Amino acid sequence: MDPQRLKANFALVGEKGEDLVAYFYADLFRRAPHLRGAFPPSTARLQRKLLEALAHIVSLVDDPPALVPYLRDLGRRHGDLGVANEHYPRFGASLLAALAHFTGPGWNDDLESDWATVYSFAVQIMAEAASERVAEREAERAATVPRQDGPPRAENGGLERVAAGRTAAERGPGGFP
Ligand code: HEM
Repeated sequence: MDPQRLKANFALVGEKGEDLVAYFYADLFRRAPHLRGAFPPSTARLQRKLLEALAHIVSLVDDPPALVPYLRDLGRRHGDLGVANEHYPRFGASLLAALAHFTGPGWNDDLESDWATVYSFAVQIMAEAASERVAEREAERAATVPRQDGPPRAENGGLERVAAGRTAAERGPGGFP
């Protein structure tokens, strides 16, 4: 991965940053319509947020000690939203498609590999932090389940029932399928 090449590419596509993120969401929802409901009806605010996040990640791409805490924080928020590991490849494919589209004829294997490397690094950190966040919430919830006499039994509304009811209700605002 060549940080300078990646930064130069982002400087180029960043000139059309708003179009890039709009293209990205259109591509994502065309290829994965089942994800549409997990996002707000208007993605204008998210487009801006995603562009800012990409700019931030690119600016810190050669500074992992600063980049990792940022990605962990973002990952924890995505854990709260219900984003799971399986959602990341689809998101990444649409992101690379948008970058390729706005780079135009200058897009090549080196750039593709630079972006794929950065994306998979980001996802690794985000997904790990998201799992930790989900586990923390599990633990908090387990600690607040009312105590009964003896161990809770699934058939009378014990932990298993609580867990099953919670899954659907707390998947995040849109509810990820
Ligand atoms: C490297 C990958 C990703 C980046 C950089 C990213 C970035 C962001 C940013 C900056 C926000 C704004 C809110 C915040 O800062 O917490 C956001 C929100 C969100 N992201 Fe991601 N995201 C990524 C992956 C994903 C994936 C894989 C999904 C699921 C398919 C996803 C779904 C969402 C949703 C649903 C929201 C919130 C929508 C709302 O406000 O209701 N993101 N993302």
